[in-house]
Order: sequence, then C-alpha cells, then structure tokens
Amino acid sequence: MTTAPAVSRTSLLARYREIRRTTERLCEPLAIEDQVLQAMPDVSPTKWHLAHVSWFFETFLLTPHLPGYEPLNPAYTFLFNSYYNGVGPQFSRPARGHLSRPTVAEVYAYRQWVDRGMERLLAETDSERPIAPAALIELGLNHEQQHQELILTDIKYNLAMNPLHPVYHAIALPRGAAPGPLDWREHRGGLVPIGYDGSGFAFDNEGPRHTVYLRPFRLADRLTTNGEYLQFIEAGGYRRSEPWLSEGWRTVQERGWQAPLYWEWQDGGWWTQTLSGYLPVDLHAPVTHVSYYEADAYARWRDARLPTEPEWEHAAADVPVSGNLQERGIFHPLPVTADAPVAQLFGDVWEWTQSAYAPYPGYRAEPGAVGEYNGKFMVSQMVLRGGSCVTPESHIRATYRNFFPPDARWQFSGIRLAEDA
Ligand SMILES: [Fe+2]
Repeated sequence: MTTAPAVSRTSLLARYREIRRTTERLCEPLAIEDQVLQAMPDVSPTKWHLAHVSWFFETFLLTPHLPGYEPLNPAYTFLFNSYYNGVGPQFSRPARGHLSRPTVAEVYAYRQWVDRGMERLLAETDSERPIAPAALIELGLNHEQQHQELILTDIKYNLAMNPLHPVYHAIALPRGAAPGPLDWREHRGGLVPIGYDGSGFAFDNEGPRHTVYLRPFRLADRLTTNGEYLQFIEAGGYRRSEPWLSEGWRTVQERGWQAPLYWEWQDGGWWTQTLSGYLPVDLHAPVTHVSYYEADAYARWRDARLPTEPEWEHAAADVPVSGNLQERGIFHPLPVTADAPVAQLFGDVWEWTQSAYAPYPGYRAEPGAVGEYNGKFMVSQMVLRGGSCVTPESHIRATYRNFFPPDARWQFSGIRLAEDA
C-alpha cells in the first residue's frame, strides 16, 4: 500500500492532532450555508469532506484495529464512503449536496468521536506491540491532507457560482513585477531513475523506482503567466482548431470555452474569481484553472510541448521542496520572485504533464479495499506534478503523482513548457 515510514508513534500522534486541527482551521472562514453547497458533480460539500476523512480513519483503522470501538452512526459507512467497493455501496457522488443531515454540527461531533478513538489507538500503538500498522495511519494523514486541498478547490468553485462573489479570506494578494522572458534549462537526458525509494511515506503509485530513457530536453525556467496565455487568447487560440487535440477542440465547442475557468470579460478587461474575491487578472501571475486540453494547445501554439512526467521528476529530483504552498496562507498562485535556476517547481499550480496516468513497471495495488486508493484510477487521466498554492508542504515531493481527467479545470492546474533539445 505505502512505503513504511520511519517515525515514532509519539510523533504520529502529534501529526495527527496538527493535521486534524489544520483541516478545521481551513473551514473557519466559512458560513454553515457555504459548507453544504455542491455546485457541480466533481466538487463535494465542505461538510462531506470533513466527514469523509473521519470515515477513512474509522473504516481502515478504528473498526479493524481498536478493540471495543463502536461507529458513531452505522449510516455514515454508506454516506461517507467515497469509492471503496470493498467496503460496501456508496451514496451517489453527484447528490452529496442533497445531504441536509447530518448537520455541520453533527459532522463536527463525528470528527470528535473519531478523534477520541484515534487518540486511544495512537496511545496504545505507542506500546511495544503496536495494534495498528503505522503505514496505514500515515495513509490516513496523507489522505486528510489531500482533502484539505480539495476543501479549498471545491469551496472556490462553490463560492464562484454566486454572483455576489463571496470572499473566503480577505487578504491583499501580493502583486509582483513582470517576469523576465521565458528561459530554458537544458537536460542531457540518458538513463535516469524515476519513482520513490526513500524511507518516509509515499503513495503506492510513486513506485516501484525504475529506470527510464530520456532524450535531451529543455524545461522552462518558470511557469506560463496569465499575460502569456492572454496572447494565445487574443491570437484566436479558442477560435481556431489547429493547435487543439480533436477531443480538446470538441470540448471547447461543446462548453463554449473562451478563457480559463473563472475568467470573465468585464468593463474592458479580464477578471477572475480568487479565494480573496473577484479581482482583475494579474498578468504576471501563473495561469491557472486550465484543462490539459488548453495546456496542450497553448504549448503547441508556442511551438513547444508539455513535459513528460519522467522529465519533470528528473528536473525536480534535487530541488528542495519550498514555494507558494498551503502554509503560506495565500491560496492563489503568485508571480515568480525566486532567482532560482528553475522556479516554481513546487507550489503555485499543479503542472500538467503529457504523460497518461498509468502504473509503473512492477506496480501492484495492495489487496483489499485500501488497494482501491490509487490503482483503479489508472485510465483516461493525465499526470500533474509539483503541488499547488493549496497543497501542504509536508505532503508534496518530486515523485508525487497527481492525476485528473483532461477536461478538469477546477483544480489549481497550470502550464510549464518543455521542448526537445
Ligand atoms: Fe478520500
């Protein structure tokens, strides 16, 4: 399922408390009414996320491993199961917004119930004979961190559908200077190792580590900006079929796309929804909320391409994980400031790669329901790398593989160009 972590049980308890507190802190700016919304099938109500992450700990740790544990409400097994067929049937995903009950207060009571169970389990796990596998606890913690990101991406969408443009947090977004012209970092390629082989936590889809052959390539030294993407729009990028994949062009036609998700033309300029409200598009900030189709068409229009995931990972392998990540509390991609050889690899926006999400050679999902976590999604999706402005810093690494269908736009997804050397 996961690589076994080399951490003490006491530090697991501390991390459990901290991650659970962080989740709830992210929800503090929200009204009760905000937390029940589901404005499209792909997003979930905040309340559902809060309950589902608790369900995960209950289902995979407390029920099987904590003697005497009783679920708070047996109906929650069905309501808050996302997609685990090995656990049982699931309530309809697109109908999560129909769940007026349990109330938000009842969901918080459920969290406390699970917390009390986890405190007992982690205390007893601290003994000589652990009663629950540490790797499973780590999986639960990393799962909750994934949902922290989803809470923010989903509430952004839900709030954006309201013409009053509700503000999640009223901070002034830093506005940087115009970045210099895009530059390229050259890589020789050759036989390079890919995949996780460390001693900490990693998801099963990051392994096994293996060797791939890369042709010489160049990677852009920063992300594509809104200003650069606007040139594509103004050159008729959404009106001409040439740069688009067939499926992408069909999607543009069917959905009437003319710009990234959230962009609106108003009073002679482009505006966009942010978690800090409705604002003019910052031309120096990285473009975000573009689909794979848009990222791919933009790259082709620039006579470039998107990187493959081995290229991205090879370029990021020795780069420290730091950047505009969740801990900064900005929750919006920012103009490049670091004078690094290659900037913005971690944080700001997830970077679309041209690699289909597929198992690495030798990959096998774990037996049982927990093996459904990643493996069964390995079709019809593309890999994204590097984390975003809502990804926790302790959650991301160079080998991390995120994946979404090519038409998805509500994640903080953006563009880094590559080209053949
Ligand atoms: Fe989940």
